[in-house]
Amino acid sequence: MRVAPSILSADFGNLAHDVQAICDGGCDLVHVDVMDGHFVPNLTIGPVVVDAVNKASTKPLDIHLMVENNSFFVDLFAPYNPEFISFHIEEEKHPHRLIQKIRSLGIRPALVLNPHTPVETIEFLLEDVDMVLLMSVNPGFGGQTFIPSVIEKAIGLKALIEKRDTECLIEVDGGVNDKNIKALCDAGVDIVVAGSFVYKHPQGIATAIASLK
Ligand code: DX5
Ligand code: ZN
Repeated sequence: MRVAPSILSADFGNLAHDVQAICDGGCDLVHVDVMDGHFVPNLTIGPVVVDAVNKASTKPLDIHLMVENNSFFVDLFAPYNPEFISFHIEEEKHPHRLIQKIRSLGIRPALVLNPHTPVETIEFLLEDVDMVLLMSVNPGFGGQTFIPSVIEKAIGLKALIEKRDTECLIEVDGGVNDKNIKALCDAGVDIVVAGSFVYKHPQGIATAIASLK
């Protein structure tokens, strides 16, 4: 299981320190939640902060766009060489075109599905993306409660990936902790995002990451 802590739960007054802490603590990716105040009722960070996060990080960035104008934001964040840029299928009229654009920039494209969005919606895009991110909370805030139906969705997505005979990672984001990690692993999930569980763990960041792995 690869672990991508979300910096949304970091102390933004000590952001470089808190990014280094997850890298030193054994994370695989640094998950960056970009919110525009339109697609979701919250506003987070732009390129100035992502530049600082990138400089502090020794691990690749995993940029999760929760925005209305995806293509504009892809252009803003491409210079920081993230491993992944993921965008919400609910907000994109031309996902195939955007996937091609992200790949042409040397970045691995990924799709995100809100809790209500069926996995069948993206069946004919699975060959074109490197990852599908299933939301296990409603996007917008850290520290929310895990929605258990994502387990069934992950099992369905895994079956769809096998049916299409393609390779595509499955990531889950929201409310992940040491109670639901086993079910996620059994469902075929490859990467979990965890914000509050990692940053607020009483035994510290490294213990939190190790317990998920
Ligand atoms: C929610 C974000 C998540 C969130 C995860 O919109 O996409 O990445 O910060 O935080 P936790 O693990 O606390 O649910
Ligand atoms: Zn996220």
